[in-house]
Amino acid sequence: MGHTFAQYQESADYLRTRLGSFVPKVLMILGSGLGFLGDEVEDAVAVSYPDIPHFKPSTAPGHKGRLVFGTLRGRPVAVMQGRMHHYEGYSYEEVAYAVRVLRLLGAETLIVTNAAGCVNTAWSAGDLMLITDHIKIFMESPLRGPNLDQFGPRFPDASHLYTPRLQDLARERAQALGVPLRQGVYMYFPGPQYETPAEVHLARTLGADAVGMSTAPEVIVAGHAGMEVLGLTLLSNMAAGILDQPLSEEEVLTAAEAAKGKFSALVLACLEAL
Ligand code: HPA
Repeated sequence: MGHTFAQYQESADYLRTRLGSFVPKVLMILGSGLGFLGDEVEDAVAVSYPDIPHFKPSTAPGHKGRLVFGTLRGRPVAVMQGRMHHYEGYSYEEVAYAVRVLRLLGAETLIVTNAAGCVNTAWSAGDLMLITDHIKIFMESPLRGPNLDQFGPRFPDASHLYTPRLQDLARERAQALGVPLRQGVYMYFPGPQYETPAEVHLARTLGADAVGMSTAPEVIVAGHAGMEVLGLTLLSNMAAGILDQPLSEEEVLTAAEAAKGKFSALVLACLEAL
């Protein structure tokens, strides 16, 4: 069953004992390749997930499993180094647990990044994409179960999950930096197997530009709790069936490493301009 509001409060209370009067205004959930930004946080307080009541450890390779609080580009942030994925065995509510805890601590904005397969055949692996919307059908919602009214309404609006103001800001910052930025729709697949070519075809037919195994649960929960959201994707590979070659985690990690410089520059510029 789901978590109670009291459990979220217990997690937040524990973190308050570690943070004193520090209020993390921005939660950053950084996908493959960008976790290193957590190491650049100044005056950092790092808290491992197992130390936080009701938190689950992250098991994904290359993810550290801790929250780093402090200042980045002059902004009070909490950086999640390592996110939870449904394919690791967590419920969707567990995947997004930290978002609600950070909301209780005062976070108003979620910046979320990920690596994803590129579905749009006019684009290339290595491109960056601003997420304008997502498709998360077939799977249950992280909001399933008794509604926690303290966070938001039973039937939350999802017309603007990815905050238009922050989309504008990202486009402006990308242009100013000279970083080309695609924009499009992210379609969530639960994984852990990559999609089949037929599923990629389906995604494209439905209007998706990218396919990935994260982000949508956290964004739904953030939207429910009234947070502003900015989502940025590294299109790490062409999605299955587009090129005549198998997909591998190695390809994703290599692309993430190669894009690290421009991706982190864009994320930091957006953070600074919030
Ligand atoms: N599909 C789903 N998730 C991904 C992909 C992909 O092709 N690449 C990186 N994450």
